[in-house]
Amino acid sequence: MAANDGAMNEKNEVMALDIVVMAAGKGTRMKSKLPKVLHKLAGRSLLQHVLATAAALEADAIVAITGHGAELVEAAVAAPHLSFVRQEPQLGTGHAVQQAVPALHERGTTLILNGDVPLIETATARALVQACGGDKLALLTIELADPTGYGRILRGDPAGRSATEGGRVHGIVEHKDATPGQRAIREIYTGVMAAPTDRLKTWLAALNNDNSQGEFYLTDIVAMAVADGVHVVTAHPASEAEVLGVNSPAQLADLERRFQHKQAEALMEAGVRLADPARLDVRGELVCGSDVEIDVNCIFEGRVALGDGVRIGANCIVKNAVIAAGAVIHPFTHIDGDTLGVKVGAGSLIGPYARLRPGADLAEDVHIGNFVEVKNSTLARGAKANHLAYLGDTTVGERVNFGAGSITANYDGVNKHRTVIGADVQVGSNCVLVAPITVGDGATIGGGSTIAGNAPAGQLTVARAKQVTLPSWKRPVKTK
Ligand code: UD1
Ligand code: MG
Repeated sequence: MAANDGAMNEKNEVMALDIVVMAAGKGTRMKSKLPKVLHKLAGRSLLQHVLATAAALEADAIVAITGHGAELVEAAVAAPHLSFVRQEPQLGTGHAVQQAVPALHERGTTLILNGDVPLIETATARALVQACGGDKLALLTIELADPTGYGRILRGDPAGRSATEGGRVHGIVEHKDATPGQRAIREIYTGVMAAPTDRLKTWLAALNNDNSQGEFYLTDIVAMAVADGVHVVTAHPASEAEVLGVNSPAQLADLERRFQHKQAEALMEAGVRLADPARLDVRGELVCGSDVEIDVNCIFEGRVALGDGVRIGANCIVKNAVIAAGAVIHPFTHIDGDTLGVKVGAGSLIGPYARLRPGADLAEDVHIGNFVEVKNSTLARGAKANHLAYLGDTTVGERVNFGAGSITANYDGVNKHRTVIGADVQVGSNCVLVAPITVGDGATIGGGSTIAGNAPAGQLTVARAKQVTLPSWKRPVKTK
């Protein structure tokens, strides 16, 4: 990792940005078997959020410190230039960063982030790295109305008796070790810092665990920096949400709502009309054209694109799908493109209560009505399946009308087979088309038919028992 051969690498050593992400903690208060940093916020793990920020900073090395559930954690996340270092046992934040030392460059800047503080903005982290400038110790701090539990920033008076506004920082004292006077300080350390890498290594080597918790505190390096004549500077996040950590399900839910609110605001800023910004969940990337309307309680997952004028009714779930201009998705529709994706053509009407599964590929002006399921099928322009139907592994021609209660039987218990329905076909109600089968252009399939052979173009094909009436039949009468 620490490359020191050749002129180019020498430059890298000076400029190198290394990012250490602390993610070894257990997260006892989550009361979960899952390691804390793998709990999800907006569809991706807390740690992955932090790694995405680290990646956006174009770090030369990202080192994640793992401990509890290390194998699970290491398998679940990814980022460029990411490596893992294990911390066993966990003896404090200073001890955690000590484990990363061999993976850091010789020189440059090291930024320390927390795996359970997911909403830190790239701009904030970048500003902190700039404040460090490669030779200062930069702390991300914020003033909180209730600073209980946090490390307090000591400024001005070396005895820490007053937090003089604007005074030089000379230390951080942990809440548990703080005097009543220090506890009154409202400026806290957020757990994020940027330090000159070479200095950091020296300070880490000098840490001790002589404190109320018997831990190696990373925060003790602040006093060491001051003693070494290194300036300690501070930067601040744009909002409190950026530095809030997740320790409990309640905090996780709180951050989820804050994150969703921010996404909703950005969508509205871009012109999307949300019926209620508090009732929207985007767990991935939602890209919208102009004049898009989204009713309440919709969930968007993965990558979803909505064209101009698309309307999404209440209570829809849409995952990995592209919905073209003017399409209307009526309430309670479930669209799940999974890995194959779903395409809905311009002007199509879907739902209410429709289900589009992976590989559903609908052209323009297709109508899919209530309780209709479409999987791995293409429907050409103007095709309709309006009620209670199943289309699986099917090619449907233009203007086809697929009747209520009709299905394609695509599975023989072992293999899947394809159904091909030509243009202008009318399939009556309650039909079973047993695949593999081809229905020619313009054919009509009589209602109630089970069709197991090809149906010729332009003709009526019907396969059901003839209707009979029994004139002598009498209803049974009740015996005593
Ligand atoms: C830390 C800071 C405190 C700051 C607060 C902000 C120290 C000594 N104190 O306190 O000043 O106000 O964060 O939230 O740094 N971790 C490990 N290995 C360990 C210990 C912790 O990986 O041995 C990880 C945790 O999983 C967590 C992060 O480091 O992601 C912070 O640890 P935590 O125990 O929450 O520190 P605090 O006591 O909150
Ligand atoms: Mg903490």
